[in-house]
Amino acid sequence: MITLKSAREIEAMDRAGDFLASIHIGLREVIKPGVDMWAVEEYVRKRCKEENVLPLQIGVDGAVMDYPYATCCGLNDEVAHAFPRHYILKEGDLLKVDMVLSEPLDKSVLDVSKLNFDNVAEMKTYTQDYKGGLADSCWAYAVGQVSEEVQNLMDVTRECMYIGIEQAKVGNRIGDIGAAIQDYAESRGYGVVRDLVGHGVGPTMHEEPMVPNYGVAGRGLRLKEGMVLTIEPMINTGTWEIDTDMKTGWAHKTLDGGLSCQYEHQFVITKDGPVILTSQGEERTY
Ligand code: MF3
Ligand code: CO
Ligand code: CO
Repeated sequence: MITLKSAREIEAMDRAGDFLASIHIGLREVIKPGVDMWAVEEYVRKRCKEENVLPLQIGVDGAVMDYPYATCCGLNDEVAHAFPRHYILKEGDLLKVDMVLSEPLDKSVLDVSKLNFDNVAEMKTYTQDYKGGLADSCWAYAVGQVSEEVQNLMDVTRECMYIGIEQAKVGNRIGDIGAAIQDYAESRGYGVVRDLVGHGVGPTMHEEPMVPNYGVAGRGLRLKEGMVLTIEPMINTGTWEIDTDMKTGWAHKTLDGGLSCQYEHQFVITKDGPVILTSQGEERTY
């Protein structure tokens, strides 16, 4: 079911989005050559405990296992849902960090600092039934100085996200978003991942409709005021095809070993156009 959100629900998602954006801004100072990738997960966990925010990705249902971490950390050819781990980041790496967080919660309702984030089954009892404001945003980080190949891929992927958001206005259709993203990426010789898509948000993190990063203009569901969606293009330097790690059922990589980039914002469609709820302040606005 596709729901239109009330002003109250949008305000709660906006609070979650502001907090999530502040985490991405903080990560700019964490992600450096020589730093352990695990420091990203630790930074997010620490901020969540300090500011009483639930990391909602811990405990998401999976085919093989429930998702065990606050973040997804996709390095270079990793496409999405890769686990954060011990790996020393090196100059030239491309790291995508995705997360879903609650709004800062009232401590008398739930004290997040007391939760054991490593106990996935216990965390799931809180994250699965969470009903408040939530936000979902992925950002890409260049580790030190990156090659022109990485920089171009980052620039095009980020632009793909904004081009998609620009199409998210009342009266347009879902296909207008995907077509605009696909045209832009493919005209630059890149591949657009098909298997994973953007989505509605609220009350849970993955709601209808699906928002593909490819498609035909003028086709699909008509967009309405009050819809809250994500746009999260995954753009590859080579083929769009991906391969999944069957051991965990989570991490995806490009099939050909090429690089992959992703940015994701969550936004609400208003009569005056899309308003980004996970804005870090410096992006294009519409
Ligand atoms: N944040 C991801 C998205 O954009 C969802 C990740 S699912 C998880 O939809 F299980 F990995 F958390
Ligand atoms: Co998402
Ligand atoms: Co996400």
